[in-house]
Amino acid sequence: MKIVIDLGGSIIMPKEGANKERIEEFAKVFREIKNMGHDLAIVVGGGKTAREYIELARSLGANNGYCDMLGIMATRINAMLLITALKDLTIKKVPKDFEEAEEILNLGKIPIMGGTHPGHTTDAVSAGLAEYIDANLLIIATNVDGIYDKDPKKFKDAKKFERISAKDLINIINSYSMEAGSSSVIDLLAAKIIERAKIKTIVVKGEPKEILKAIKGEKIGTIVEGE
Ligand code: UTP
Repeated sequence: MKIVIDLGGSIIMPKEGANKERIEEFAKVFREIKNMGHDLAIVVGGGKTAREYIELARSLGANNGYCDMLGIMATRINAMLLITALKDLTIKKVPKDFEEAEEILNLGKIPIMGGTHPGHTTDAVSAGLAEYIDANLLIIATNVDGIYDKDPKKFKDAKKFERISAKDLINIINSYSMEAGSSSVIDLLAAKIIERAKIKTIVVKGEPKEILKAIKGEKIGTIVEGE
């Protein structure tokens, strides 16, 4: 299978900062997935690094586009950390677009990229990459264990979906974004790309073991049906 993994920023670079053991744990699982014979591409988020730089730049008067550029830089720094841990399985280059990522994939290596352009997040990058390389599966590893009918951090009675259509996911995201300060589990552009490209997607908690289970086909997280 051709698989894209979207590794959320809060997963690789949590609030308490980076951790050698955790990055190595992810690297070990990615090596295992590669050894299973899959082609793998990884998109890394910005997490704490991105947030700190963006907040500081904003307070200094930067506009959104410039803040986004700082965020993109942060995602690429995080990608470089993972590249260091993955050693021979990748090359020491962070692809800046899908073409470069596919070139690395065609060398038999794992492309590890961050953001691309201002205006969206790495969720959209991972969906776009999955579409571009004709991936069979997109795994979105994030800080919740699936997609809920409402924000599980705010509502105790929120229900998790085992499966959801991309169309219904788009409706849920739209309802989330109407509340100030709420953030949805996947960004809207990513959901729209998943819908148009009909990409099979699984949203899982960002733990190495959970990612592995999703790839092995175990019932876990929420499956987003592209069709
Ligand atoms: P993330 O993809 O990590 O965003 O990129 P996020 O979803 O806000 O963060 P987490 O994953 O939940 O922690 C960090 C920031 O970098 C910019 C955006 O400002 C984004 O919020 N970015 C990233 C872009 O502008 N374009 C990209 O392609 C990627």
